[in-house]
Amino acid sequence: MVDSKWLNLIDGKRVHARSGKTFPVFDPSTEEIIARVPDCGTEDVDAAVQAARRAFDEGPWPRTTAQERGRVLFRLAERVRKEHALLSELEARNNGKPIVEAELDITDVATCLEYYGGLATKSSGAVNPVPDDALSLTLKEPVGVAGQIIPWNYPLLMAVWKLAPALAAGCTCVLKPAEQTPLTALLFADWLEDAGLPPGAVNILTGFGETCGAPIVAHPGVDKIAFTGSEAVGKLIARAGADTLKRVTLELGGKSPNVFFADADFEAAIDGALFGIFFNQGEICSAGSRILVQRSIYPKFVEALVEKAKRIKLGPPLDRATKMGPLVSKEQHERVLGYLEVGKQEAKLALGGGKPRGFDRGWWVEPTIFVDVPEQARIGREEIFGPVAAVMPFEDEADAIRQANDTVYGLAAAVWTRDLNRAMRTVKAIR
Ligand code: NAI
Ligand code: MG
Repeated sequence: MVDSKWLNLIDGKRVHARSGKTFPVFDPSTEEIIARVPDCGTEDVDAAVQAARRAFDEGPWPRTTAQERGRVLFRLAERVRKEHALLSELEARNNGKPIVEAELDITDVATCLEYYGGLATKSSGAVNPVPDDALSLTLKEPVGVAGQIIPWNYPLLMAVWKLAPALAAGCTCVLKPAEQTPLTALLFADWLEDAGLPPGAVNILTGFGETCGAPIVAHPGVDKIAFTGSEAVGKLIARAGADTLKRVTLELGGKSPNVFFADADFEAAIDGALFGIFFNQGEICSAGSRILVQRSIYPKFVEALVEKAKRIKLGPPLDRATKMGPLVSKEQHERVLGYLEVGKQEAKLALGGGKPRGFDRGWWVEPTIFVDVPEQARIGREEIFGPVAAVMPFEDEADAIRQANDTVYGLAAAVWTRDLNRAMRTVKAIR
């Protein structure tokens, strides 16, 4: 049975899956089941899309003034700030991230809602250059029903990154949280009506990718898909979206270079490298997972990096002293452990490399550093999405830029140097 607080939201009502099916949600630090949620399929998606469609085509939301839409988002932000402790704890329990990091996320959730609350009234169109006897105006209109599919690394933050801009514009939404981490979005669902959202403006469905995500992408009643997640699923969505000519926005993977020149502030550089790959257990699309270090400081850098990484404290997510929690799921755990074995064949292991001792239950991985990673090594080229650093040397600026750009990805990059001219040249040259 699904506890009433974890029911889905369709047309302003809390509902079970039509099939009655459910699936478990885990605490990744203990592998305990902490909730059961509806396992939605095509019929549920259809009901949610119809509700969003009615709310858009006939309902008040797109016809509400931008000022009032903004106020609704501000009210939601206020509620999030009021329930900050509750949301942070639930996020840490369900995702496994340290409570201190979850608190930062929830503050960002409120800030994001406030940002788009303000932006609601700031969007303007344009008068376009055309011959003198013509007049051409660009007016901004809401796209319609937005289908939103999100991952598990920043559960509620990802949800509001999708919901807030769509709502600010006057769109209505069908949101599917990741199957691993649906709980904070379902709690948030309780506050939408109070904040002034009409029924159907936001619908939230829990389910798996193929059975609940894919029907959202295929549905002719959905005008736009916003997706964040893996590259593989991003490609499926781009193809499937084409069948009904949906607008699609994708935010996918990365293998981002974090480039350290010899003249960088050494202490700041070490902290920056550690933060880049170990924050949020490395489960970040823009993680600095390739650490490129100039040859002249390479040995000293590697030594300091490894020494400081040894002090990263693994522990229960709700313990305030914890610096790193478990990975989010069994699947992700197996995937990352698999990469650790690949890495041991390809490069030199300088720290970690497996499950930490004393953590028998839960999906834990040691902070891991591979050094002298060859350019063609898989662990230096493929997204691992865990606490696994690939460190490699470079000779000079040209070599740094060449290595940084030698990737199929292009999500993020960082450059550390005290030479401002080199900083500007390098960041422009890294694509
Ligand atoms: P995923 O891309 O399979 O899942 C992300 C979301 O897409 C979830 O809500 C899932 O239910 C949904 N989904 C899955 N298949 C779908 C389909 N066919 N149609 C529509 N929706 C679908 O990511 P997963 O399996 O959790 O992680 C695998 C790898 O993806 C990770 O190891 C990591 O490398 C990468 N990833 C990247 C993220 C990012 O922020 N860029 C976030 C999560 C994962
Ligand atoms: Mg997947």
